[in-house]
Amino acid sequence: MRLDRRLSELALGTRREVQALIRQGLVQVDGQTVRDPGTHTDDTAEILVRGMPVDLRRNRSLMMNKPGGVLTAARDRKQKTVMDLLPEVYLSLGCMPVGRLDRDTTGLLLFTTDGELNHRLLSPARHVDKVYRAKVDLMLTQEDVRRFEEGMDLGDFVTRPAELVIEDSLTGIVTIHEGRFHQVKRMFEKVGKTVLQLDRLAFGPLRLDENLKAGEFRELTDEEIAALHLAAGMEADRA
Ligand code: URA
Repeated sequence: MRLDRRLSELALGTRREVQALIRQGLVQVDGQTVRDPGTHTDDTAEILVRGMPVDLRRNRSLMMNKPGGVLTAARDRKQKTVMDLLPEVYLSLGCMPVGRLDRDTTGLLLFTTDGELNHRLLSPARHVDKVYRAKVDLMLTQEDVRRFEEGMDLGDFVTRPAELVIEDSLTGIVTIHEGRFHQVKRMFEKVGKTVLQLDRLAFGPLRLDENLKAGEFRELTDEEIAALHLAAGMEADRA
């Protein structure tokens, strides 16, 4: 791929901006200063811009501890969205949230630039587990546990069997195997409870990093990405 295209795809600037950098002699490929923006580079070339190595990974994936009161959506003119919490570079690279959490829901939200991974993780056919802690308004009962286990008819669809573990009388840990719109809140509603607080603890093989405060994010490790690829039924070496 042409060097200027490569660098602009890696969010180092517009095509024009990176061409200017190259012409000024600020870009090195495999130890050589290159001044022709059309120079061909392959995937293994080591590239330095202003002496700093360029991160050549094709894809980036992140986890965020989503705070309450923020929409899971592309940027919105009126309301704050999760995209406003990410540095511009991730937006330029095309990072997108993997699914949605309601505005008031907190906890683990993944982002990736990898469209295929995103699509597969959300595919209803893959049944990627999601785990939530729900605080509700009325005491949870063993009958609720049984109703979750049976699967529930929510009108527009019947849920797969879900696990409800009662943590204390007003708090339950719920594992669902799909992810429909407002699913957890609707399941509790069906057993006569209102969810007062919902926090996602895990998505597929990944648990929320406890070191992330509300609104913070970090890149996934290679191991976490490999585990996600496995859950998505993809080969491991696509980083
Ligand atoms: N289920 C819900 O009801 N809300 C969420 O945000 C996620 C799952």
